Amino acid sequence: MCLASKNKYLSPKYLYDKVGSQLFEQICIQPEYYLTRTEASILSKYAPVISKLLGNNIHIIELGSGSSSKTAILLSHFSSQKKRIYYFPIDISSTILTESAQRLKSQFPKASIVGIASDYNMGIDRAAAECKVAEKEEKKKNNDDDISYTKLVLFLGSSIGNFELIEARSLLRSVRQRLNASDFLLLGFDLQKDESVLKAAYNDKAGMTAKFNLNLLARINRELGGNFDLEKFEHYAFYNLEQHRMEMHLISKIDQQLYIGALGKTFSLKKGESIHTENSYKYSLNQIAALAEDCGFGIEKNFTDKKRWFNLALLSPS
Ligand code: TRP
Repeated sequence: MCLASKNKYLSPKYLYDKVGSQLFEQICIQPEYYLTRTEASILSKYAPVISKLLGNNIHIIELGSGSSSKTAILLSHFSSQKKRIYYFPIDISSTILTESAQRLKSQFPKASIVGIASDYNMGIDRAAAECKVAEKEEKKKNNDDDISYTKLVLFLGSSIGNFELIEARSLLRSVRQRLNASDFLLLGFDLQKDESVLKAAYNDKAGMTAKFNLNLLARINRELGGNFDLEKFEHYAFYNLEQHRMEMHLISKIDQQLYIGALGKTFSLKKGESIHTENSYKYSLNQIAALAEDCGFGIEKNFTDKKRWFNLALLSPS
């Protein structure tokens, strides 16, 4: 976060420390936050279709796995089809990663689950290396050099929407580099829709999104010796129509001075001034197709709900 200049970009990963990850789980179950429910229902409906495309030995790599609750829908279907599953969840919060890996291990005792506590870039590298090791071991164990594995990379929850287009492209290209022709990438996109639905989703009545947003300041206090008084800020989320994105801001309620110990610096904020904390881009199907193509993928299939609120794009290397 840069408080001295105006247009500074903040990586979404800073939202997800232990507290942030727990708050995000609360957001996901708020009635106004349709994203998680809609995506889960699409996954339930189309798990059989996805399963059929995949073959019997699957290496699943998930970017930002969080509670892995949506992935469990897929795992449950794959294991009922007697597929051999390796699952590599990657998450920046080691607490949530350990908890969910443990839960999944008891739910799916036959699957091999290896959590990777990391950001996406390092995580992809480590997961790709783990896949190679797993493949070697399986070949040796079965004394069969021809066993083939399908990689399925998951990036759910519209997390791609939290990236600027240029960042999203670079992430997808880096995924693409690590995939073979028969592998897949399943990407969750929140679609452009009526503004009122979007605004409600990011201004839930229980105030969870506000808390999640404010946790960034709490985190600066905890980790960087900041002296932010959270009471003196207000969560503000609106839809930026030209940019097709929800914007999350924290608005200063008063004129105030802020000190951050780790930087040894003081910043002034005027009453009404905003700290822009996050964006959540909403895509059209055309934009999704263009992004895929730009990054060396083709769209194998789009899975959408009836209201066309959310889209899971299954991509394969083109
Ligand atoms: N990927 C989620 C989304 O874009 C993350 C999110 C939900 C979020 N609510 C938020 C990010 C509020 C910042 C602020 O919907």
